[in-house]
Amino acid sequence: MMDTSEARILLKNLLKRVRPQEDGSGLLPGTITEDEIDALRLALQALGGLGEPPGPRLVEPSPKPRVIDVEPLPAEFPDTPVEPSMSRAHEAQVLDLSCLSLPAAPSGRRVCIDFGTAMSKVTLVSDETADRPYEEIEVLKLGRPGDQEEISEEMLVSSVYIDNEGRLWFGAQAVQRSQPEGLDGKRQRIDNVKRYLSEEGFTDQVARQFNPTKVAITYRDMILAYLTFLTWAMNRCLDDMGYERNILRRFAMPCFDGAKSRRTAQALKRMLFEAQILADTFATRIAHGIELAEFVASAVAAGKVDAAVGFIDKAVTEPLGVAGSLLSWKTAANSLVMVVDVGAGTSDFSLFRLGFNEATEKAAAVEVENSARGLTEAGNHLDNLLKSFVLRKAGVESSHDLWINILGALQLNLRDYKEALFNDGFVSVSLFNGDVVEVTLEEFLALDQVASFSASLRTCMKEILASVDASFIAGAPNGRLAVALTGGGAALPMVRDLAEGEVEVNGKTLRLVRATSFPAWMSETYPDLEDLYPRVAVSLGGARKRVIDHGGSVRITAGDVKAPPKLEGYYVKGH
Ligand SMILES: Nc1ncnc2c1ncn2[C@@H]1O[C@H](COP(=O)(O)OP(=O)(O)OP(=O)(O)O)[C@@H](O)[C@H]1O
Ligand SMILES: [Mg+2]
Repeated sequence: MMDTSEARILLKNLLKRVRPQEDGSGLLPGTITEDEIDALRLALQALGGLGEPPGPRLVEPSPKPRVIDVEPLPAEFPDTPVEPSMSRAHEAQVLDLSCLSLPAAPSGRRVCIDFGTAMSKVTLVSDETADRPYEEIEVLKLGRPGDQEEISEEMLVSSVYIDNEGRLWFGAQAVQRSQPEGLDGKRQRIDNVKRYLSEEGFTDQVARQFNPTKVAITYRDMILAYLTFLTWAMNRCLDDMGYERNILRRFAMPCFDGAKSRRTAQALKRMLFEAQILADTFATRIAHGIELAEFVASAVAAGKVDAAVGFIDKAVTEPLGVAGSLLSWKTAANSLVMVVDVGAGTSDFSLFRLGFNEATEKAAAVEVENSARGLTEAGNHLDNLLKSFVLRKAGVESSHDLWINILGALQLNLRDYKEALFNDGFVSVSLFNGDVVEVTLEEFLALDQVASFSASLRTCMKEILASVDASFIAGAPNGRLAVALTGGGAALPMVRDLAEGEVEVNGKTLRLVRATSFPAWMSETYPDLEDLYPRVAVSLGGARKRVIDHGGSVRITAGDVKAPPKLEGYYVKGH
């Protein structure tokens, strides 16, 4: 029986043999092979044309993930720009639904996917067993399948680029492919695809500078495309480690307000399911550029697949993930902790009361009600401030003849310039028109807008403390508030400042202390993770068995976390 991936390749090649005629019709020269006829039959069958039961499944899922390994296909349209009608004619996609019929992955092991604005991370946690008296933590090396180990072995670049021939590229390849085409600044890659998760923009058409084709796409399509790449890279890593493709997965997301948070979690859950199907469907080609029109058509088909999604677990907010990494659940703990995760797109805050009694093995660990907040000012905000400052210093305004070129070319390298500025204390920026602008960290930090970013962070923290149940402040152990700083922005001066000095909350003063930058329990078992920890804390904590509960109406009484009688369930059991 022919495999669906084999049929898909055969049909794609068959379509490629069609020669356009002057009158607009197509001519298929030569004979049609037996295999090609089989492939046509399979496609017809999949579409319900041979008496198969109708339904959303396009093919019967086969338990074997893939049988043949194919060479990457050559570029679809090497000479001509993409015409949508032409692209659509090449839509020979058949979904690979094999993930739906795999035996359930064994319990006791799960991943947490942290889809980041700049970099994505995935950590696998295997629970403690009778044979192994500790939980096993493995940060996936997504950089290997992503072919970007020189950038990072563990963090996958979250960029998407549609090239001038209408092919989709991801990660480091998106960056590479965009460089020559984007030299004049008119072509841009999407470096912040996650930001469109917030409702504004999710269903908007992708802007022209990102999409040179006539294929209509929304930002949801681009998020799904990136999640497909991320899922594919994760699958490759899991496969190398001997684990199943349908492993249980949680996913991290920023802090949004109530209803929006639920909607986003639902949307992400569905997209991660479709991403698994699309990752399987494009498994052999995703690293070599896939045709946008073909991806979009496949995504439409994946959107119609109606099946129970067993392997996608729940959402965890980003600070909740971090908090989950702080406790060992074995040694004593008693603290009030503010988690601040400063990434590229958002700065996420949340307050936790973490306690563990070593003697009784009882844990009381809660996320304090009403304490989760997200600011849309983070690393990217500093990038934008640097961009404005550089342009102002160079005297370049929107009336400049080369405005689009200068702006666009600067945009493509902005994140690198900003990081160099903070790492080295200065940066030298070369503009499209040949000008070079020098910026020192001192003058950048002195800018009013940078100062107001620092103030927003501080205000957010104060507002949270002022709005939570006063018992948490009154019961802060030793009058101290520990501040755990994570994310790529953890070392920024205005972020480190959040853990310095004191803070006054409704007349009570809390002393701020910086939580250790690497939890002690991990330094014994996983010393190698120290440098990486601030970047992977979300996915690491999010994948552990115990997820810290939301506080509900929990209060502190006599220095201890106490739930009203009806809410006993918040205690996390010692075992
Ligand atoms: N040395 C550095 N100095 C300043 N900023 C840095 C440095 N290293 C990384 N960053 C910034 O950190 C951000 C990336 O951090 P991180 O990986 O935590 O973000 P993310 O998870 O992709 O984003 P988000 O959580 O907002 O979706 C980028 O803005 C990057 O420029
Ligand atoms: Mg992040």
